[in-house]
Parts: sequence; C-alpha cells; structure tokens
Amino acid sequence: MVIKPKVRGFICVTAHPAGCAAHVQQQIDYVKSKGPVRDGPKKVLVLGASTGFGLASRVTAAFGSGAATLGVFFERPSEDGRLATPGWYNSAAFTRAALDAGLYAKNINGDAFSDAVKRQAIDLIKADLGQVDLVVYSLASPRRTHPRTGATHKSCLKPIGAPYTNKTVDTDRGIVSDVTIEPATETEIADTVAVMGGEDWEMWIDALLEAGVLAPGATSVAYSYIGPEVTWPIYKNGTIGTAKIDLERAAKKIDAALKAHGYGRAFISVNKALVTQASSAIPVVPLYISILYKIMKAKGLHEGCIEQMQRLFATQLYNGSALAFDDGGRVRVDNWEMRPDVQAEAAKIWPQVTTENLAALTDIEGYRSEFLRLFGFGLPGVNYDADYEPHVPMPE
Ligand code: NAD
Ligand code: NA
Repeated sequence: MVIKPKVRGFICVTAHPAGCAAHVQQQIDYVKSKGPVRDGPKKVLVLGASTGFGLASRVTAAFGSGAATLGVFFERPSEDGRLATPGWYNSAAFTRAALDAGLYAKNINGDAFSDAVKRQAIDLIKADLGQVDLVVYSLASPRRTHPRTGATHKSCLKPIGAPYTNKTVDTDRGIVSDVTIEPATETEIADTVAVMGGEDWEMWIDALLEAGVLAPGATSVAYSYIGPEVTWPIYKNGTIGTAKIDLERAAKKIDAALKAHGYGRAFISVNKALVTQASSAIPVVPLYISILYKIMKAKGLHEGCIEQMQRLFATQLYNGSALAFDDGGRVRVDNWEMRPDVQAEAAKIWPQVTTENLAALTDIEGYRSEFLRLFGFGLPGVNYDADYEPHVPMPE
C-alpha cells in the first residue's frame, strides 16, 4: 500500500515502515560517526526501547559500545493488513541492523508494568545473557495497571492548586491561542504518580536483583525534565513533575541498593525538551519547543534524542570519571537548553508569538517535520509514492 501521514490532533495514526527504518538508520549512522563509547555497557536492558529516548539509548549502547540489548516496549504489530505503530517498525529495523552487525538483540512486546513481562525478561536474561550491567528506564505511558492491586491508573498533564492559563499552539493547524487547564484533583495527582513515578522502576530493580540477573556494579538510569519557568505550572510543578519527584525518590533508593551490589549506581538524567509522542500531548510545551528549536539551531546547539543520548553515554555514563551531578544529584544533559542566553531569548520571544508571526518567530516547521519523522514520514531516500508492505515481522 501507499502510506501517507494522517495527523489527528497530536497524534499521527499512520506509520511508514521504510521511513521508520530510515529514521533508525540515521540514528545508527550518527552514533557510528561519533566513534566508539569506550568501556561502555556490555549487556543492556532497555525499558521503553521502541521510540524517543529509550530507542536512542538502545542505539547508542549497541552501535556505540557493541552492547547486547534486550528491548521491552508496548507496540501494535502489523496485523490483517493494518499498519503497525512506529515503535514496532523502529524495533524491527533496529533488530535487523543489530543482528546484521553481529550484535545480540531481542525484544519483549508487552506491558512492562506487569509481573509477567518482568518474569519474561528475567528468563531471557538468564537464558541468553546471564546478567545485565545497564538498565535504562524510559517508559512513558498514559496508564498503568498496578500488578498488586489490579487497579488501572491514568496519568494526566495538569497544574496543581490553581488553574493555569498560557499560550499554546495547535501544531497541526498553526493556531496560537490561550488555553486554561483546570488543576488536578488529589486522585489525579496520585494516579499520575502511580503511572509516571518511580514505583515500577523499583519493582524492576527489585525483581532483577532477586533473580540474580543484575551484574555487580550495574548502573540504572531514568529520564526526567525540568525546563523553564514558563512551563513549570504544567510540567515541573504539575502532576507530571510530582511524578518526577517520586522518580527521584526511587532513584535514591535504587542507588543505595545498587551501591550495596558491587558498588553500582542509579541516577536521573534530566534531558532536553524534544518532540516525541509523549511530549506532543502536553499543552503549552510544543510552543516552547518550537521557540527553543529556533534558538538552539541558530546557535548551533540543537540536539535530537540520539545526540542527547550519545552525549549522555560518552561524556557522563561511561567517560571513565565521575558523573557531573547537580545539587539534586541529577545528571543534566539539558544544560545547553538551560543556558542563560538560550533561556533569555526564549523568554523574549514567548510573549510576542501570535498565529500570524508563528512561522517567523518559531521553528514550527522544524517541529512539524520532526513530529512526522517520528512516524517515518519525510525521511530522505524513501519513495512515499511507492507501495510498501505494511506487515514487518520482528527479526529473530
Ligand atoms: P516515548 O513516548 O517516545 O517512549 C515511550 C516508550 O515507552 C515506548 O518505547 C513505548 O513503547 C514504551 N511503553 C509505554 N507504555 C509501556 C508499557 N506499558 N509497557 C512497555 N513499554 C511501554 O517517550 P519519551 O519522550 O522518549 O519519554 C521517555 C522518558 O523520557 C520519560 O520518562 C519522559 O518523561 C522523559 N523525558 C522526555 C522529554 C521529552 O521532551 N520528550 C524530555 C525529558 C525527559
Ligand atoms: Na523512550
């Protein structure tokens, strides 16, 4: 079939198998162009491995350090002539490339929050790898069914305490307008913490430790975001930020557990604001990202997920020296985004943006093309008028 993008609000309901493969190949080529990440990870478990920062972490581990990778994700395969989700096509392309390069790569497509998937991962590690030395926790999900209570929690993106009004952009239609978001209820806050907080990360590490499949000295990392004050009511001080505080709580507990296990470590990396399926659903943030991209590209500071993760691995995780922590014990690869000169310009542009000057003052075009690339559209070398087979099996 001929596959075209079909954008519905902040989601594209189609994905291009060859385009997703080209997108993954670009990431592989980038990592190779940077040269090896020496003394890097050898056996890696990536939770949330199919898109965004998780996929970029997996590509960096495999093609930067020659690591064996086990990827866990929740994606829809292609069935009955229907298209798969981009994460499926990405993972199929990654796995093909890794196997062709002689690297171990296996996948578990299922609910990472469940006990069953944790057991499946442990069994695979035992059978194939023995132990893993790095666990990347990069899940972003709208819901979580709790493995003990059976309750399904839904996360939300809301302010806390008071309504929040600010500018937002309909990225599809290019319309800038004010949006008011009502504050979350106590239940909504707790539900968001249950989904995006640190409990599941702790459950993973507990299960892996108990099963003896974490190598002594193993590292674990999870990802967070802070950003500028203009977004704080909806992000840092909102429901998602509250979940991230819980993730930091979990990081400290996990760090202590891993320290006791052959002097390993766990930490949070604060990453840059980027177009991903998760971030496009947050009000206000896409407008900020469009402004940020304009500024960072002009200054030659722009990075995507792969540049961020390659820098994290090469200069922090495996640089052969101590990690550069901030006051809160976090690693900051958002340091270029948060540079005072970058933020001063963003703060100057923010109040000026209207529907009329959106294209001139922001990189809305760059936002849109990056958004489409998440679904495999707009990649060089792909003929988007040609027929493609929607069914792509996972290579084994
Ligand atoms: P993403 O949507 O691109 O990736 C989410 C991943 O989680 C996918 O692989 C998906 O398959 C997987 N997943 C979701 N539910 C699952 C489930 N139940 N079981 C198994 N896998 C499941 O998101 P992302 O933007 O890469 O976010 C990853 C992390 O990075 C999040 O913690 C996010 O808060 C953080 N982060 C994002 C940004 C940003 O701007 N996008 C910035 C800083 C930090
Ligand atoms: Na991810």
